[in-house]
Amino acid sequence: MAVHVEITGELAVVTIDNPPVNAASQAVRAGLMTAIAQTEADSTVQAVILRAEGATFTAGADVSEFDKPPLDPHLPDVILALEATTKPWIAALHGSILGGGLEIALGCHYRIADAKSKLGLPEVTLGLIPGAGGTVRLPRLIDPNAALTMISGGKPVAAQKALSLGLIDAVATGDLTEDAIAFARTAISQPRPAPLSQRPAVAVSDPDAWNTAKDSLRKKARGAAAPKAAVDAVQRALDLPTDQALKAERQAFMTLKSSRECAALRRIFFAERSAAKLPMLKGEGPAPLNAIGVIGGGTMGAGIAAACLLRGLAVTMIERDEIARAAGHDRVAGVLKNSLDRGLMDQAKHDATLALFKSSTDYADLSLADLVIEAVFEDMEVKHGVLAALDGVLHEDAIIASNTSYLDINVMAAQTAHPSRVIGLHFFSPAYIMKLVEVIVTDHASPTALATGFALAKRLGKIAVPAGVCDGFIGNRIMAAYRRAGEIMVEDGAWPWDIDAAMRGFGFPMGLFEMQDLAGLDISWAMRKRQAATRDPAERYVDLGDKLCEAGRLGKKTGAGWYDYEDGRAVNSDWVKTLILDASKRKGIARKKFSQDQLMDTILTTMQTEATALLAEGIAQRPEDIDVVMINGYSFPRWRGGPMFMADDPSAR
Ligand code: COA
Ligand code: NAD
Repeated sequence: MAVHVEITGELAVVTIDNPPVNAASQAVRAGLMTAIAQTEADSTVQAVILRAEGATFTAGADVSEFDKPPLDPHLPDVILALEATTKPWIAALHGSILGGGLEIALGCHYRIADAKSKLGLPEVTLGLIPGAGGTVRLPRLIDPNAALTMISGGKPVAAQKALSLGLIDAVATGDLTEDAIAFARTAISQPRPAPLSQRPAVAVSDPDAWNTAKDSLRKKARGAAAPKAAVDAVQRALDLPTDQALKAERQAFMTLKSSRECAALRRIFFAERSAAKLPMLKGEGPAPLNAIGVIGGGTMGAGIAAACLLRGLAVTMIERDEIARAAGHDRVAGVLKNSLDRGLMDQAKHDATLALFKSSTDYADLSLADLVIEAVFEDMEVKHGVLAALDGVLHEDAIIASNTSYLDINVMAAQTAHPSRVIGLHFFSPAYIMKLVEVIVTDHASPTALATGFALAKRLGKIAVPAGVCDGFIGNRIMAAYRRAGEIMVEDGAWPWDIDAAMRGFGFPMGLFEMQDLAGLDISWAMRKRQAATRDPAERYVDLGDKLCEAGRLGKKTGAGWYDYEDGRAVNSDWVKTLILDASKRKGIARKKFSQDQLMDTILTTMQTEATALLAEGIAQRPEDIDVVMINGYSFPRWRGGPMFMADDPSAR
């Protein structure tokens, strides 16, 4: 039974039990209706506690039901029925109280939450707005500005914050159900608060701040419809009587539900969760993951070490000499200190986390490591030296992962004593923030090594996507292709800043050239130099990037790249303009004009063509995996669903 009722004396405990996340499926909605009728009919019951089994209270509507015709009873009616009860309902909340879960809680008369719980209305992340009264009831309970941020931003808040906002009545200090029972006993003798739908909206205290917040949220949406619809819905909640606002909310919800944006975001939601489930790994368990080794304490090594430490894994980091060790150690300690300073952890947690970290110049310190990630210079000789050293010290079951961006991990593996334990784990920078990891499936990788790679990614809270070995795996190979296409357009007549503007207009947070300046132009320069010997002489080669690097313009870090930088701000560069005009002239190219649409169409088509090749070569396993990579690693606008989702419907633009 998805919902069961237990009556003890004057109290009823209604429990939702619908694993894995207690989604508000038809069975749950029907079960709640039955529970409402039963507790209303039982004259011994004076108050009702609504709780859930398992790891979380209801995490929202059942997303898998969205493609099917809606079934009675609908959630808005269940919530109205809750509000109409004659007895106080106390929601006892734990885990992730999201979407429809929070809307159910708003239908109750009181809310008490576990200290570790998170409450939110993340519908916009699925291309929706709350459809069961969330946009109408929340600003009748808390400050409208806070409600607006939660609904249009979609980010959940922690229990303490929810308490300070007035979203909940109490944070449990002991066992949640016991605290809720105690709360209910007190509530019986108190006058019941009016249901939220019968209260006026909380007044906007600062109209200027309110308008600024609305503008800023609309701008942040970068073309996505749902966050803007959420702003409109909250405004309506303030302007209209409840019944009209509820009706308008439902209409907007139904329209968005059948939108392309919602379909795109639902597909990505499930694709992100299924990418790591490789058929070849079915039933395969990971090796233990107690101690992690990281080789190299530079940008990536330090970032990866910090990501592991922040998830409670012990890390030993090896550097090549004492100076580099101290610098790497400081980088890692700096990330932890930053978490402390930002209040993301307290002093005790910080100290305990730092105590899990050790840095050394002696490979022998890795003798107990279960998995070692190398993040040394992007140079095959250096990587070989590291792998040989690891062969000498690691225990037989330890796994070795390379974080190389472009080098052939099969070649690396072949030089080791046990190629079956060598895989790739391609993190993105900064590794303690970026969600994506490409798990590189090498030719001879054992299923255990791969399962352990995926298990580490999960432990780190990352989205893991499998990719085969090739120059750049999935993401960097697609990026190299569209970067080439962009540079060709620049030689043919576009300016880098035109292309960047077209990409921003499409929904990228920044364009191709701004992004290169930020990341540094030298890594791809090194790759191009490496590829020079094998490059097809018939292939059109644009040397603008090389010329920038030769002139010391390595990007923002050197104060100049595709752009000039004034006080850290990018400005169009006359120097670069001259370089481009000279290049076009040298090649006898008559420069032509491109519209913004033409520029973006070329970038998108190039992404799709390269992605199709990756699928044909078996480097990528599913079109969805490519979309997951482009969205989470390269900031492709999530609401557009990714290049492969868009390829299915060319009219989508
Ligand atoms: N509807 C249907 N299935 C859902 C779901 C939902 N609202 N939320 C989660 N699931 C499924 C996942 O697909 C996954 O299924 P799988 O095991 O077959 O892959 C399973 O529940 C566990 O989810 P997962 O995200 O892997 O677990 P987690 O512990 O990391 O995170 C949540 C749990 C609840 C925080 C997370 O799943 C989440 O944010 N869910 C979406 C909430 C939401 O957007 N609600 C509003 C809906 S309108
Ligand atoms: P980096 O230059 O910042 O750091 C490399 C570190 O490795 C240096 O601290 C160096 O002292 C250390 N090192 C070199 N040889 C060593 C050895 N023999 N033993 C121990 N340590 C040694 O480089 P990075 O940007 O961190 O890149 C590291 C790897 O990660 C490269 O393969 C790169 O292609 C890859 N990568 C980089 C990025 C990125 O955005 N920077 C992203 C993904 C992958």
